[in-house]
Amino acid sequence: MTGPIGVFDSGYGGLTVLKEIIAELPQYDYIYLGDNARAPYGNRGFDTIHAYTLECVQHLFQMGCPLVVVACNTASAKALRTIQQKDLPLISPDRRVLGVIRPTTEMVGTLTQTGEVGILATQGTVTSESYPIEIRKFFPHVKVHQLACPMWVPLIENNEADSDGADYFVKKYLDQILTDAPNIDTLVLGCTHYPILTKKIKQFLPGGITLLSQGKIVAHSLKDYLHRHPEMETQLSKNGVQKFYTTDDPQIFEKLTNIFFGATVKTEKINL
Ligand code: DGL
Repeated sequence: MTGPIGVFDSGYGGLTVLKEIIAELPQYDYIYLGDNARAPYGNRGFDTIHAYTLECVQHLFQMGCPLVVVACNTASAKALRTIQQKDLPLISPDRRVLGVIRPTTEMVGTLTQTGEVGILATQGTVTSESYPIEIRKFFPHVKVHQLACPMWVPLIENNEADSDGADYFVKKYLDQILTDAPNIDTLVLGCTHYPILTKKIKQFLPGGITLLSQGKIVAHSLKDYLHRHPEMETQLSKNGVQKFYTTDDPQIFEKLTNIFFGATVKTEKINL
């Protein structure tokens, strides 16, 4: 029995990652699940994010996914380790769940010349300290500066990313992190929603700073993982089919998919 790769996010953000994964690995089947009914996850507590993420991951398992990518930094930061180490061995020891933070931290230190890196993320990701902890493992000398940008996800989810109103909050957070840490030369968009603001961010970002989105990094890392794990790769179905599910109203979801995925996609509702 083979099955699709599950891709999960609190809402729309994971679509920016799925788009790049499909570009890199178009042969596989994919199921996307956005937990829009309970998004945003960004300011929620550890237990809540763990419970929501586990429920969604289990649902993707029930739909036949041998492998799930948690394409959400907040869920990767606050739930992934517990799911991998405590839950999986009990509920589904042969399935795998991967996140988006590890692949990003594995390479970010190779890009900085100044040795100072900025992480823009949700409050949950920042307070988890996952980025500084993981980056230290690979690049102990790199200095990590983090800033929570709590207004960015609501702006994006409300389709305001290109509006004049977005200027204020984009500039505010960029000014803040660059005032606190003027030597940063690499800035990570540590939330899968944030690539939607790329155009705006570049408008206000001083030259010489590399802006890093995760989609291509995660896609590359997944390809590498499947190469190293043939026992998982052979469990994946390969018909090039993609299916999209949301826990909220699919008509609302479909309206914004074009912004995140570059195409409007037919979506079905899931009741967890
Ligand atoms: N896309 C999620 C992330 O990467 C955050 C969105 C949310 O706050 O739910 O962190």
